Amino acid sequence: MTNTVTPEFRFRRLRRTSALRDLVRENQVTANDLILPLFIEEDITEPVAISSMPGVFRYPESQLADVVQRAWSKGIKAVLLFGVSTHKDACGSDTWNKGGLMARIIRTAKQAQPEMIVISDNCFCEYTDHGHCGVVNEQGTDVENDLTLENLQKQVLVAAQAGVDMIAPSGMMDGMILAIRQVLDVNGFSHIPVMSYSTKFASAFYGPFRDAVDSTFKGTRDSYQMDAANGREALAESMQDEMEGADILMVKPGTAYLDVIANIKANTDRPMAVYHVSGEYAMIKAGAAAGVIDEQAIVMETMTAFKRAGCDLIITYYAEAIADWLDNA
Ligand code: PBG
Ligand code: ZN
Repeated sequence: MTNTVTPEFRFRRLRRTSALRDLVRENQVTANDLILPLFIEEDITEPVAISSMPGVFRYPESQLADVVQRAWSKGIKAVLLFGVSTHKDACGSDTWNKGGLMARIIRTAKQAQPEMIVISDNCFCEYTDHGHCGVVNEQGTDVENDLTLENLQKQVLVAAQAGVDMIAPSGMMDGMILAIRQVLDVNGFSHIPVMSYSTKFASAFYGPFRDAVDSTFKGTRDSYQMDAANGREALAESMQDEMEGADILMVKPGTAYLDVIANIKANTDRPMAVYHVSGEYAMIKAGAAAGVIDEQAIVMETMTAFKRAGCDLIITYYAEAIADWLDNA
């Protein structure tokens, strides 16, 4: 008898029907994995569309409660809050004002849907007049690491007192996780987890976000965010944050950094998050609008790739759309 079983058929016999493929699928995206970023701007009364990111808006504070409830009703269990401040100064002091924008949006979101996991993006760039992620030096060319950490501790304490469920520091300051853990623990907030933007690259993929939300910023963040060329350093950055007590690690952006995600995942037992950023969103939207790609298929393939690379959580502007698609599948 001739042997008709070719080597590749060993794989193909589990692909014959959709039920078989469902049975053996290794990775699956669910709404439980998704975190929705939200931009809330002070002093506006109507949502402002972000032109490079169709479907994404800066919302007024008065609509935040509705937006949080809408996300919850779709099965989204976590939101990541960005305040866009009109009370900017050199150090971003509004972030540690108990009546300031960051504290208010945390309280509003928690009140709207107490079960929603409310995560604050803890940085200064939306609250400083120069747009950097901390206190700048005299020349205005670089961010002062340790002075920024002191302010970050004040900010995080106010966020915790406002009822935040999770702290997500995005400023890429050295020692930020240790500084946050210390201030939380001595003030009775040892139960609050920290999701670190532990490996965050200086990336052109943030372009649409900065154009739309961060227009005051003209410089670069190359002196504190990571060089896209460095894979070993990418691992070391996340390992350092794990040692300092980070509960969840993150890679940002996502699609161009799957190797980095996989490498960190192989070296940690912490849950891993990825931030599918504005440029990644905008590219898919633009491609779909041009009629050259299938939006839903591209998004789901990208999300599945994040899971395969090792991500447990996915921060994406597509979160609500994905929840809708999964509901209707
Ligand atoms: C800054 C910040 C960035 C984003 C949100 N907050 C990146 C940056 O400008 O360095 C980008 C988010 C996105 O592109 O989706 N802390
Ligand atoms: Zn920042």
